[in-house]
Amino acid sequence: MQRLKRLRKNKAIRGLAAQVNLAASNLVMPYFISEGQNIKQPIASMPGVFRFSRDNLLKEAEGLIRIGIKSVILFGVPGNKDDKGQSAYQEGGIIQEAVSALKKHFSDELVVITDVCLCGYTKHGHCGVIKTQDASVDNDATIKILARIALSHAQAGADMVAPSAMMDGQVAAIREALDKNGFKDTAIMGYSAKFASNFYGPFRDAAESSMKFGDRKSYQMDFRNTDEALREIAADIREGADMVMVKPALAYLDIIAKAKERFNLPIAAYSVSGEYSMVKAYAQGAGAEKELALEILTAIKRAGADIIISYWAREAARWLK
Ligand code: PBG
Repeated sequence: MQRLKRLRKNKAIRGLAAQVNLAASNLVMPYFISEGQNIKQPIASMPGVFRFSRDNLLKEAEGLIRIGIKSVILFGVPGNKDDKGQSAYQEGGIIQEAVSALKKHFSDELVVITDVCLCGYTKHGHCGVIKTQDASVDNDATIKILARIALSHAQAGADMVAPSAMMDGQVAAIREALDKNGFKDTAIMGYSAKFASNFYGPFRDAAESSMKFGDRKSYQMDFRNTDEALREIAADIREGADMVMVKPALAYLDIIAKAKERFNLPIAAYSVSGEYSMVKAYAQGAGAEKELALEILTAIKRAGADIIISYWAREAARWLK
């Protein structure tokens, strides 16, 4: 008789044969940045996640580096919003200031990634500018603004910009603007296969980025589709993305696996706010957040993600020690 269980009999032998090992160095910690000072504001729908002002972000980052996390992705929560998202690229903007402070303090010890989108900066909450005729998103006007935002992040010192607006041609527009202005080394992580998901709810509270009308289905992807996701990824690679992302992660492991199989550049997966809050809500009773989170993150890695963006990143690094 076969003895398939021989390699499971104790922890050491299981560890020896384990194919997937989570590492803090592959995790990216997201942060929501507010204006002001000494702010650490809890987000009701995401227990354990806060909005930080820049000074507190620096303190946070110190702790992060100490436990082995090497990268953050930043989202701005500006006080000022308009119809065109101008506060996203204005001089002295919230993200630009946070990036330059982080780079000044931590230099190459920390990879600073910035989210490039309009939804947190517009009053209407859409990821692009809106056409007056029919209230649809103006793709081509938006990519020009995204390029401007990305350039301002690069000028502040961002290592990598991550356009999440799902506009066609956004990666090419950003690459061109970066190259033209001498930022050939600033990398781009495309939020390439970003689905119109119901798992983004808590994030929209955190980033104050809910849309005032309509939904995002005309630009984010239909979750019934696989081929389209692969086409979006291929397009971003052609346009010059250095990494591509699948988002959300947990309900899209098949997409991650296919992307990993097909494309030979780093694949990132974003374990989004709803995935985090869902487990938080369940684990409170079950008392098993750590085990649940590590199982989910490991599954995302097993599916093929090289890099995982997760609200658990900080805690996971501690758990993995
Ligand atoms: C902005 C953006 C969103 C997320 C990341 N960037 C929300 C959205 O598209 O509505 C979601 C992340 C999360 O839920 O954790 N375009």
